Amino acid sequence: MRGILLAGGTGSRLNRLTRITNKHLLPVYDRSMVEWSVEAMVAAGIDELLIVTGGERVGDFMRMLGDGSSYGLEGLSYAVQENAGGIAEALGLGERFAKGGPIVVMLADNIFEHTFRPTIEAFRANPQGCRLVLSKMDDPTHLSHLGVPEMDEDGRIVRIIEKPEVPPSHFAVTGVYCYASEVFDVVKTLEPSARGELEITDVNNHFIGAGHVAYDVQPGFWGDAGESIPAYQEVGEFVARNGANKP
Ligand code: G1P
Repeated sequence: MRGILLAGGTGSRLNRLTRITNKHLLPVYDRSMVEWSVEAMVAAGIDELLIVTGGERVGDFMRMLGDGSSYGLEGLSYAVQENAGGIAEALGLGERFAKGGPIVVMLADNIFEHTFRPTIEAFRANPQGCRLVLSKMDDPTHLSHLGVPEMDEDGRIVRIIEKPEVPPSHFAVTGVYCYASEVFDVVKTLEPSARGELEITDVNNHFIGAGHVAYDVQPGFWGDAGESIPAYQEVGEFVARNGANKP
């Protein structure tokens, strides 16, 4: 299965740590943030990976990860995102890599206590529309910095609200997304959001509107290490104590 790891962006929420480097190269306990996500993809069954990052730091990613073989990858490719045009713009750069097949997308600042392999296997068995990974979260302030699904009484996702002032549920949309190949056509229809970016949430809302969404609730800890300095610190401390990407 092919996967795309999105590791671009300006990292402004981790300023000043990101003044001279890409946030995904920052340490999280005993390795770099991006390595945890590469390992997460491998544990989930991804064997061919594309990393999309900004042009200035692509050489650092290559020095860190090489051809990916030491992480268990069959192939590792790199693509450069010229502008910080958002997650969905970065995803669009992966169209040729996907070769017309389904694709697993991960934001490289996400860290999971347990592997999301069951989600990937479920999607592989039925690669239609999109399949999301949710994480249960009770703190409304934390949820207001993330994408949050609104659900009907049967637990079906009605839509996702990005950075909601009042979170419509107790779930966060994590940064792991499985997509059928038509995702690249969806990306081409997007308009920039208020923050000037093509939003992954708009991609997901497209599939939700078409009735082609499935989801799993991820067990254990999940964190977005790029969300803020306190989140970065919390994720690092969690991983130091408990590890990540466990069965
Ligand atoms: C992005 C997504 C958001 C999701 C989060 C997970 O947010 O837009 O829906 O909950 O990743 O890490 P961003 O990090 O771009 O603010």
